[in-house]
Amino acid sequence: MKQFTPTPDDDAADARLGLGAQASGSQELVVRKPDLMVPIRSLGENHRDRIRAHLKALNDHDRYFRFGFTANDEQIDRYVDGLNFERDEIFGIYNRRLKLIAMAHLAYTGETRAGGSSEFGVSVLAQARCRGYGARLFERAVMHARNEGVHTMYVHVLSENAAMLKIARSAGATFVRDGPESEGHLNLPPATINSQLTEMVEEQLAQANYRIKVQAKQLLKRLGRFQAWWRPSGHGAHPD
Ligand SMILES: CC(C)(COP(=O)(O)OP(=O)(O)OC[C@H]1O[C@@H](n2cnc3c(N)ncnc32)[C@H](O)[C@@H]1OP(=O)(O)O)[C@@H](O)C(=O)NCCC(=O)NCCS
Repeated sequence: MKQFTPTPDDDAADARLGLGAQASGSQELVVRKPDLMVPIRSLGENHRDRIRAHLKALNDHDRYFRFGFTANDEQIDRYVDGLNFERDEIFGIYNRRLKLIAMAHLAYTGETRAGGSSEFGVSVLAQARCRGYGARLFERAVMHARNEGVHTMYVHVLSENAAMLKIARSAGATFVRDGPESEGHLNLPPATINSQLTEMVEEQLAQANYRIKVQAKQLLKRLGRFQAWWRPSGHGAHPD
């Protein structure tokens, strides 16, 4: 049983909602009992700029691991501008300050989802690593792909990317190494009522969690303005 020790910092405290998981490593899809209920939500068009900021916050080494080359800011702009939120699925984890600390892109490779395949790419900001977010995003993408009727999920990884190889292998993916790159694939079982309900509930919880963070941020902003107004010097401007 894996334990996530509570830490006081914002990213961990905010994204974490619950407990409990189990590691495994067979050749088939491994459905792990979640030890960490992370609010992973589906991202739409209105999150494009936050996705851009998230990817640009990655250093050169991370960009190399994420894209297979050291993407510069212009290349990231082109990638983000080209994201198709209708065709593909983008997942994200926000912290309390509404900073996108982790995201994943599940791209469908064929004309139709059902019976087809998909490709997975992920990134977690350096300060939010090793808390299970990468693994949770992978599991969420697997569940979504399953529920869409996808048969195979692919993941292209640089062979030196130990963290990503571990995440995918732990979920049951097998890899074929081709020099500096490794291509992994995971055969997905058909959707079940359970997988569909689980995804629906997780999405609803994550959306609710996001709305609470938006409201909390607005409230704090408003409180700050009132505090400025009431401060003893009396120099603050009335907030409204
Ligand atoms: C790869 C990446 C997404 C992992 O994110 P993360 O949130 O830190 O990963 P997790 O916390 O879920 O860790 C998953 C497992 O990998 C292990 N791991 C994490 N970093 C590791 C490292 N540098 N070396 C070896 N293992 C590592 C963890 O211990 C964990 O194993 P466990 O389940 O046995 O405890 C993150 O490092 C990242 O964004 N890298 C840059 C972009 C990238 O490489 N993307 C992948 C290409 S698609």
